[in-house]
Amino acid sequence: MTTIPEYDIARQATCPLDPAPAMRARQEEGPLTRVRLWDGSTPWLVTGHAEHRALMGDPRVSVEPMRGIPRLSPAEAASMESMTKEGSRGIGFIMMDDPDHARLRRMVTSAFTIKRVEAMRPATQGIADELIDKLLAGPKPADLVEAFALPLPSLVISNLLGVPYDDHDFFQANSRIIINRNSTPEQRGQAQQRLAGYLDGLLGEKLANPGDDLLSGLVERVKVGELSRPEAAQMGVLMLFAGHETTTNMITLGTLALLQHPEQLALLRESDDPKLVASAVEELLRYLTITHGGLRRVALEDIEIAGQVIKAGEGIVVVNEIANRDPSVFPDPDRLDLQRNARLHVAFGYGIHQCLGQPLARMELQVAYLTLLRRIPTLALAAGVEQIPFKHDGFVYGAYELPITW
Ligand code: HEM
Repeated sequence: MTTIPEYDIARQATCPLDPAPAMRARQEEGPLTRVRLWDGSTPWLVTGHAEHRALMGDPRVSVEPMRGIPRLSPAEAASMESMTKEGSRGIGFIMMDDPDHARLRRMVTSAFTIKRVEAMRPATQGIADELIDKLLAGPKPADLVEAFALPLPSLVISNLLGVPYDDHDFFQANSRIIINRNSTPEQRGQAQQRLAGYLDGLLGEKLANPGDDLLSGLVERVKVGELSRPEAAQMGVLMLFAGHETTTNMITLGTLALLQHPEQLALLRESDDPKLVASAVEELLRYLTITHGGLRRVALEDIEIAGQVIKAGEGIVVVNEIANRDPSVFPDPDRLDLQRNARLHVAFGYGIHQCLGQPLARMELQVAYLTLLRRIPTLALAAGVEQIPFKHDGFVYGAYELPITW
């Protein structure tokens, strides 16, 4: 009998931007293998790019906790059990199947079209410039996360939703609890409740004084009975936390990756070609793939794929950081090459849950990297890579701090 290897997502201290070596080894065994989780369960592990897209685009897979998606840690299992007991479906539509998922997602898609997002570019540029002015006027070394990578997307998503940025300490702290793998169910539940209560309060204010923001748009739906108020609050929580944690980590790690590849950094800084800037962001998204350790699904029916059958009820862990290093799609995948065509990456997922905010994230990243590199041409790390505190404990990979100087 062959033993099934343990789920091991530990990255190497010497290559903190590369996916876990144990996961890479599994890709060499095949695109679809089994993995043993802490609780003894043995879900399927998807490491192939084609299989990733096939499964994530398949209506026979579910994302709903109560249908039995794999639990990656004891804390997460406890959280899902308490959610199932309470009949809660987690944070908004990211944990719902269609048709509920589609019904709710449709209500907010128009805020994230390329046209709407492009209209936000000048304001985003203004925010980036102001943050850099402040950074340059302050002492060095400085922490890039605190000075730039966290406030930029937080300000942008606050403006879009109509959330007062003055409350940023509150919503950033609670988002960090939700996204931490080791948060206890109590901690995660309380953080979700605090955010939902806060969003509910804001919805109440928008009901009395509507503005030109996304939450006011949701209030209109509540008024006509298309949406319940708790649903609207949950959607607000989802967009608020998904809208800043992720982009923050991409700005931080992307800056680190560029500083580690000076010739690539120079190429981006000196380019006047918007196509190269766009392709650079795609490549950084592929190379860094910040969702950490896998997206989870469960098969609702038997699914034949890659010469195997995933049986109804079996769990699936889809590791997109490994799919994005699949050499059959991205030749020489461990090389950061800002000029390669990386458009087929799955850093935003794939299928019905593919990232809602991706046009916004792309625009923010284009503005963030270019502004940083052009306004601070002497930008450098102020610490050794081994001193950087990476987020090994999150569902989203990143760094808690990035000491920089200039
Ligand atoms: C670089 C930044 C970002 C990355 C890498 C990223 C990544 C992802 C991924 C991988 C998923 C799919 C999860 C799954 O299939 O289980 C997702 C979903 C989602 N993301 Fe993002 N995201 C980013 C930025 C944003 C932003 C700025 C927003 C703004 C609101 C956002 C909102 C969402 C939402 C609402 C979903 C759920 C979509 C659904 O279930 O239909 N994300 N994101």
